[in-house]
Amino acid sequence: MKRLELHNLKVSYGQRTVLQAERIAFERGRFYGVVGPSGSGKSTLLRIINLLEKPQTGTLHFFGTELDLASLSYQKGLPIQRQMGYVAQKPAMFQATVFDNVALGLRYRKRDKKAIRPLVMDALELVEMASLANQRADTLSGGEAQRVALARALVFEPALLLLDEPTASLDPYNISIFERVIQTIHQERQTTILMITHNLPQARRLAESCLFVYQGEIVEQAETESFFNRPASPMLQDFVLGRMIC
Ligand SMILES: Nc1ncnc2c1ncn2[C@@H]1O[C@H](COP(=O)(O)OP(=O)(O)OP(=O)(O)O)[C@@H](O)[C@H]1O
Ligand SMILES: [Mg+2]
Repeated sequence: MKRLELHNLKVSYGQRTVLQAERIAFERGRFYGVVGPSGSGKSTLLRIINLLEKPQTGTLHFFGTELDLASLSYQKGLPIQRQMGYVAQKPAMFQATVFDNVALGLRYRKRDKKAIRPLVMDALELVEMASLANQRADTLSGGEAQRVALARALVFEPALLLLDEPTASLDPYNISIFERVIQTIHQERQTTILMITHNLPQARRLAESCLFVYQGEIVEQAETESFFNRPASPMLQDFVLGRMIC
């Protein structure tokens, strides 16, 4: 199965189930927007896919590899996790230069030393941060740090890019760079992208398909145009019209 799929998923904390789904499927090479009210389970979904957390039950089909998530060992998950890039809303920078922050993922992946410099500089060029390669990453502005986080996720050419509200705290200039880069990457490398956003116009601009997460369930998934123009469920209708009290 060359898709990304989750089957029989259940994520609970204590007595409370925060995310459940019989089947969630993503086609390879597509750009998905993930929207829904605060607390609905969007970040949980991305963390589960990124193997950062274990659900109570669930099987992940990662483009041909099947993993039982509840019993997955770190060692078995690592080669899959290394095919995913993840950018959080507020990325943590390592206390090192911008260059080293981006190079680290390649070093972990044991890439040839000579190949590392050009790959890092290409990734930094892409996000317009090459001129700051030698600056300490912990001194960057929020927008700069977010662009470096994107370069760090892209440098190893992940099959899957997971973005958790990556532009939520950025100004329009940094948002436009960020959006341009992810669109370019998606078109040129056919990277599968899942992007959580509260910015509905942004989901409309970028995503080919959208998912609506509501109270721990995927209530609706559709092509972006019909998702926004012809939402099927009353909950999504309320959400896109801004009538939902979150
Ligand atoms: N480690 C945890 N322990 C207990 N509850 C948790 C934990 N992580 C998440 N939750 C709960 O799970 C629910 C879903 O959280 P999640 O972070 O996935 O929401 P979200 O849709 O990303 O919200 P937002 O849009 O505000 O980021 C929330 O009610 C949250 O409090
Ligand atoms: Mg979240």
